[in-house]
Amino acid sequence: MANTPKYSQFKVCIVGASGKLGRYMVQHALDRGYQVVGVCREQSVGKLDAFKGRITIFPGRTDNRDVIRQAVAGCDAVLTVLAPWGVNNYASGTAQAVLDFAEPGARLVFSCGWHITRDGKDVYTWKLRAFELVFGFLARITRFADLNDQVEACRRIFASNTRWTVVRGSDLEEGPSEGLPVWSRRVGDPILASNMTRRIDFALFMVAAATDDSLVQEAPAIVSGQSASALAHASSSGKQAA
Ligand SMILES: NC(=O)c1ccc[n+]([C@@H]2O[C@H](COP(=O)([O-])OP(=O)(O)OC[C@H]3O[C@@H](n4cnc5c(N)ncnc54)[C@H](OP(=O)(O)O)[C@@H]3O)[C@@H](O)[C@H]2O)c1
Repeated sequence: MANTPKYSQFKVCIVGASGKLGRYMVQHALDRGYQVVGVCREQSVGKLDAFKGRITIFPGRTDNRDVIRQAVAGCDAVLTVLAPWGVNNYASGTAQAVLDFAEPGARLVFSCGWHITRDGKDVYTWKLRAFELVFGFLARITRFADLNDQVEACRRIFASNTRWTVVRGSDLEEGPSEGLPVWSRRVGDPILASNMTRRIDFALFMVAAATDDSLVQEAPAIVSGQSASALAHASSSGKQAA
């Protein structure tokens, strides 16, 4: 059930604010009248120029514990883009800093992909498994990214007793909003079969999750509500209900 923030102005920190997902989240949060704080790498601050004067920016790597400690102070929610870049535990360092320094009781919402599993009960297509194996291997040997570190980041989040939500994104595409995505606890559920969400709506789900207590300690796998699989599910559940 969605809760209306109890505060006069809900304050949200967006960690990884300058990326594509991050900038969409900033816009959605501003649209809701939230006070917005963003963390992004120093060289990326210019990517947030469109929001100048409307958000407070803490420049720095997202795994910089001092930067995160200052940025999350007083925030009702922290929305974190978990990125597996490099081979120096960037994602797990980022997640750990957020877990350690966010206000007690703050809503913590993290982004990742379907490849993350909470309980091992997700069912993956051979295509998804092959992509993960090949991309994971190539990314690691070129020191471009470390998917295992995103897995470790999520392991720590799942084990924490904070008010977390891990949003697991399908494949993403650009384009105008199609509304709030639908979700399932299990990858492999027919509702998710279309495996496509607009990036703007992934961000919408992240921001909406910050005030949705039904998503506390859930790891929703999302898909566009307008996708063929979501629409087929909606019409079949409609028939069942009739
Ligand atoms: N791409 C997909 O198809 C897909 C699918 C499912 C889920 N997801 C999830 O969606 C989230 C956002 O992914 P995205 O692909 O849409 O990318 P994105 O929004 O553009 O975000 C990338 C983030 O990584 C940072 N970054 C880029 N290169 C970096 C580096 N070398 N060192 C440190 N930080 C670096 C960016 O910061 P700067 O602005 O400073 O560069 C930005 O904050 C991630 O959690 C991802 O797991 C993505």
